[in-house]
Amino acid sequence: MRKLSPGSRPLKGTLEVPGDKSIAHRALILGSLAEGEMRILSLPAGGDVRSTRDCLSRLGADLSPDGEALVLRGRGLSGLKAPAGPLDCGNSGTTMRLLMGLLAGQGGEAVLTGDPSLSRRPMRRVSEPLTLMGAAFELAEDAHAPIRIRGRRPLSPLEYRLPVPSAQVKSAILLAALQADGETTLDDPFGTRDHTERMLRLMGGPERVRLEGTRITLRPGPLRCPAELRIPGDPSSAAYWAAAASLIPGSALTVKGVLLNPTRMGLFDVLRDMGARLNIRQQAAPSWEPVGDIRSEHSRLVGVRVPAARIPALVDEVPLLAVIACAAHGETRIEGLAELRVKESDRLKATADGLNALGGEVRVADDALVIQGPRLLRGAAVETHGDHRLALAFAVAAAAAEGTTTLSDAECAAVSYPGFLEALEARTA
Ligand code: S3P
Repeated sequence: MRKLSPGSRPLKGTLEVPGDKSIAHRALILGSLAEGEMRILSLPAGGDVRSTRDCLSRLGADLSPDGEALVLRGRGLSGLKAPAGPLDCGNSGTTMRLLMGLLAGQGGEAVLTGDPSLSRRPMRRVSEPLTLMGAAFELAEDAHAPIRIRGRRPLSPLEYRLPVPSAQVKSAILLAALQADGETTLDDPFGTRDHTERMLRLMGGPERVRLEGTRITLRPGPLRCPAELRIPGDPSSAAYWAAAASLIPGSALTVKGVLLNPTRMGLFDVLRDMGARLNIRQQAAPSWEPVGDIRSEHSRLVGVRVPAARIPALVDEVPLLAVIACAAHGETRIEGLAELRVKESDRLKATADGLNALGGEVRVADDALVIQGPRLLRGAAVETHGDHRLALAFAVAAAAAEGTTTLSDAECAAVSYPGFLEALEARTA
């Protein structure tokens, strides 16, 4: 439990956020399957990335800290070893689902476990396509972790259309496809985050990943580590600062060195539609991912309708968008949120419950959130359900509210953004 008091100062100046979590998982996993040595810079310290790192070490990956860098020596596609015991993925869905793809193409057996939240999340969406490629899976109640995997080398290639908007499912299949004996083609009609495709091009050469409309074709074969990989700032973490600056009068704040990948920019796009004063400037130097600065100022906001097609680009920011919408004039309707029910908690219900406890007017209507604004939020006791995105979003609500807010399990924020609650308090106190 943690008490949060609203600040008395506006947010000013510049800051940086930890490296992008999604890219960090991929750098560690693809790097371990690649050849050569890579210095990874700005690897985030959150719990989820730590889970991936620990699991890869158990699989024989060679990872050693060197000053500010983590040095990774790739083992190649067939250099990892079967783990001696279960691999604990902690709270991290990305760790579990991406490792399912990696392990599907390795020869031996492995068991993946997770914390109670991860053990409730759906895993058949990953085991089904990987079974079509030749791996064998045993899941608890046929759906959940713990998961026993028997890999096959090589796997068969696959033609597959994603049935759910999930970059984790797509990435698991691409990791397996790397270890198949022919080309795999995947159709992602939802446009989910494309970091795996970009990193496969970086490490395998651009010709290895063909993109035609919504279809991705991967040619299997070896990867090579770049000598150095600097992970850009996480836009999902920058979003909390941009939102807080929009909500706290007098604020003008710049987050520097943020990943500006279009598949991740949905929250900023919607904020702009709501009337936020937002200035995004991309760095000139070309890179395998776009990077730049995001400046946000306090603004008068209006409610908007966010259709389902826009959700993949802001899927982790929906609780935060609901916080912002409480301050906007008029109704905000965020549609197509079925996936939120199977995140670290039922985020649809938990977002509505938390904001209503703070005096918001938020309703769940089928798979949509409907928020009336503006409502002045007042400090109250709020449940995070141990879900880091809820803790972080409610901390922003608390900073803009009147009175003191008490967050349950606030330490879960460290899963993706250790130090945010303290930094927000320090900058506004
Ligand atoms: C992620 C994909 C998304 C997102 C998660 C990270 C990734 O999950 O919510 O935080 O790194 O691929 P889904 O694939 O389940 O949508």
